[in-house]
Amino acid sequence: MDMVTVYIMGREYQVPAGLTIMKAMEYAGYRLIRGCGCRGGFCGGCGTIIRKKGSYKLTVGLACQTVVEDGMQFAQIPYYPPHHPDYMLENMEPTAEQILKIYPEVFRCLSCNSCSKVCPQDLRVMDYVQAALRGDIAKAADLSFDCLNCGLCATRCPVEIVQYNVGNLVKRLYSRYIAPADDRLDKRCKEIEENKVSTTLDGGFNATLNEMTQFDKKKLKDLYNARVKEPGESA
Ligand code: FES
Repeated sequence: MDMVTVYIMGREYQVPAGLTIMKAMEYAGYRLIRGCGCRGGFCGGCGTIIRKKGSYKLTVGLACQTVVEDGMQFAQIPYYPPHHPDYMLENMEPTAEQILKIYPEVFRCLSCNSCSKVCPQDLRVMDYVQAALRGDIAKAADLSFDCLNCGLCATRCPVEIVQYNVGNLVKRLYSRYIAPADDRLDKRCKEIEENKVSTTLDGGFNATLNEMTQFDKKKLKDLYNARVKEPGESA
């Protein structure tokens, strides 16, 4: 097996080449309780700071998606306490004034682009913050759509903006006030409230849900594949 040398939080380990940072940490004996979630690049729980061999530059990545290289040094970021005020969407409007009321620090954005440079998803983070600042909620929601909330942007922001929370707010405002309503959702919510029969199984929603918790993986997969598909939805 080809081995490479890596430095996990400054300590040297030999690990098999081709492992992700997350697997390399586990190979080295770390038991991951935090900094590890879906393992598939979706939850944003594994933001990692990386320095490649001989490079003056710090880079970032998701530990579950980034493959180790010989001489690589890395450390996962700790939980990064975000500014996250409470708000009630029902009492809000999709405007720049509203964003600034909740997150006044957005006004301090220097347009330095540090947040975009650090994003492991290559999102235009600064652009969605600027769109929010202009009150272009639809654009901000669109640009931040693929954000995983990994928190790396907030670690680099010189004016203390928590960009991913701004992204969450604009997406919520967009969904509630701007996106066209889909009456299928209202219809389905009503059916669930009334415990109506599911489209695939008999017995009413609650009974169906209970029944499904007993299914094995294959039966769940078959059921999923047999679902009524959305227009344009692939298998
Ligand atoms: S563990 Fe979920 S994104 Fe890496």
